[in-house]
Amino acid sequence: MLLEVRDLEVAYGDYQVVWGVSLCVAAGESVALLGPNGSGKSTVVNTISGLVEAKAGEIRFDGLSLNARPTHVRASLGIAHVLERRRVFPHLTVLQNLTLGAWHPAAKAERARTLERVFALFPHLSECKSQPALTLSGGEQQMLALGRGLMALPRLLMVDEPFLGLAPRVVAQMKSVFAALAAEGLAILFIEQNVRLALSLAGRGYILESGRLAIAGDAATLIDSPEVRRIFLGG
Ligand SMILES: Nc1ncnc2c1ncn2[C@@H]1O[C@H](COP(=O)(O)OP(=O)(O)OP(=O)(O)O)[C@@H](O)[C@H]1O
Ligand SMILES: [Mg+2]
Repeated sequence: MLLEVRDLEVAYGDYQVVWGVSLCVAAGESVALLGPNGSGKSTVVNTISGLVEAKAGEIRFDGLSLNARPTHVRASLGIAHVLERRRVFPHLTVLQNLTLGAWHPAAKAERARTLERVFALFPHLSECKSQPALTLSGGEQQMLALGRGLMALPRLLMVDEPFLGLAPRVVAQMKSVFAALAAEGLAILFIEQNVRLALSLAGRGYILESGRLAIAGDAATLIDSPEVRRIFLGG
């Protein structure tokens, strides 16, 4: 396994929001982390990247324990994290935003080549590379955030709600980018609230409910599960 999370517990102060969550992602695998609003999806991913500290449990990447390693070390080991709501630097240009993604030495050395690859995936970013990021549409900013993540040459890409607020046409574009990345062998862990959309992209999924793992399984099993319907529709 490339990523292994075991018995993760996370609390904000005295308020515990993640309870005993275990999950894994194999090299080259696409996995969805699903769950209703406030179920702890972002907290789990933020804890994997080190933005939030684990209270208990273990996080391993490529056999190394990550628990005592700070965020920037986790990133240089090959974990890219695209945060919720596409956090790009609004006043920097598209090119500057992308360049900043290649900050660690190994990525810096490959910067020109990786940039070409990102522009091949997102041709529009190449056309507007000199514009400030704030002039881009929501969908373009999401692609920029993703492109910036790729500039760090990750082996695992974690993306928090990449489809949120995107028009159907842009969702389709984004889906084909994820498919292309998966075909290149990149492991992807992404958060999504739409079960059908998520499982059309991921081979497997984990479903959180109130900070606990409710069900995990392959896409075909989850998509027809009455339990999944209950979690998302209530009752
Ligand atoms: N910084 C924080 N301080 C205190 N509580 C927090 C913090 N961030 C999140 N929470 C709480 O932790 C719980 C899980 O939140 P989290 O953002 O991980 O859920 P989520 O599944 O990503 O939700 P959403 O679908 O809304 O993005 C929620 O009850 C939320 O209010
Ligand atoms: Mg969230």
